[in-house]
Amino acid sequence: MTMAAGHGASVRIKSCGKTFADGTRALEPATLDIARGETLVLLGPSGCGKTTMLRIIAGLELPDPGGRVLFDGNDMTSVPIERRNVGMVFQSYALFPNMSVADNIGYGLKIRGMAQQARAARIAELVALTNITGLENRRIDQLSGGQRQRVALARAVAIRPGILLLDEPLTALDAALRDRLRGELNRLLRALGITTIYVTHDQSEAMELGDRIVVMQKGAIAQIGTPREIYFKPKNRFVAEFIGAANIIEAPVENGHLVLPGGRQPIGGDANLAATIAMIRPETIEVVDPARAPLTGTIDSVSFIGNRQRMIVSGASDKLLTIDAPNTVKVQAGERIGLSMVPDAVRLLPPEN
Ligand SMILES: Nc1ncnc2c1ncn2[C@@H]1O[C@H](COP(=O)(O)OP(=O)(O)OP(=O)(O)O)[C@@H](O)[C@H]1O
Ligand SMILES: [Mg+2]
Repeated sequence: MTMAAGHGASVRIKSCGKTFADGTRALEPATLDIARGETLVLLGPSGCGKTTMLRIIAGLELPDPGGRVLFDGNDMTSVPIERRNVGMVFQSYALFPNMSVADNIGYGLKIRGMAQQARAARIAELVALTNITGLENRRIDQLSGGQRQRVALARAVAIRPGILLLDEPLTALDAALRDRLRGELNRLLRALGITTIYVTHDQSEAMELGDRIVVMQKGAIAQIGTPREIYFKPKNRFVAEFIGAANIIEAPVENGHLVLPGGRQPIGGDANLAATIAMIRPETIEVVDPARAPLTGTIDSVSFIGNRQRMIVSGASDKLLTIDAPNTVKVQAGERIGLSMVPDAVRLLPPEN
């Protein structure tokens, strides 16, 4: 199957589950559609099945009987990886340590029979694209982690894949480098227009890179949505707590209000549930004059975090509430404050079973 450069293939995963030979159920049957050129992030804690899902898409693993993988509508389920036109960066990069940078990048081109001269030109293009000029003749074991990451990426896109599969490509790097490469990677993916499936357990990476995010929990899909949908409208407590900080409150609902120890908070949306679990993001709560607030509490502690300050407040809800306020708000521990938020900031979650 050939695909034009710069045009990703669409991916359809149909009822793909995975039970390993030893009986481990790594993946519940999952169905997913990924559009051409889309970046889809698989996000979830260690062991939730992210790599397994990626390996099924790559052709390194067969789904359980009944599962199917389609690229641009063509059934690829039993097509081996070398005939799927996918580029892959593994969790551990999997570069050839004794080969030079250039030979690593050109490896896929060579085994596909590309002539030496064309290969050299393509390698030069990728070296420039991934910002590793000057390192072409180094061996992999003479590179830093960030440089290895770039080589792995260059090698994966060298063959002009229709689909790029990235398994936690940044986790081995320190935080500052990770942030920078994340931005670079984002620009690169947009420029290449390749369909990308990106695995991570880092929620800020998922938010920045993903057109959509698939949150996975114990081998199952907990929620699929845009970063905004996942953040503001999590379907359940697991998603709410996995993405960003969340106040989880248990309180009865009466006439469109959450009835809390510190007052009555109006809620938006589906306010018909009788007793419920609600989620409130810390930055949606505003500190106001307690005399004119629907909800009041007492500040237990304030920590200055630079770009904001985090307050822990007691007495407002059944548990301590976390508030992220602008760094200019002047408050101190022991002070009684009013809490204000728009009704839609309260997200009702289904009861837990
Ligand atoms: N070959 C295998 N045989 C048996 N069990 C396996 C095999 N490979 C993975 N598993 C199990 O399947 C589950 C999912 O593994 P997977 O590697 O997909 O998780 P992951 O989400 O990628 O985790 P991490 O973030 O740690 O990389 C785990 O419980 C794992 O131990
Ligand atoms: Mg993994």
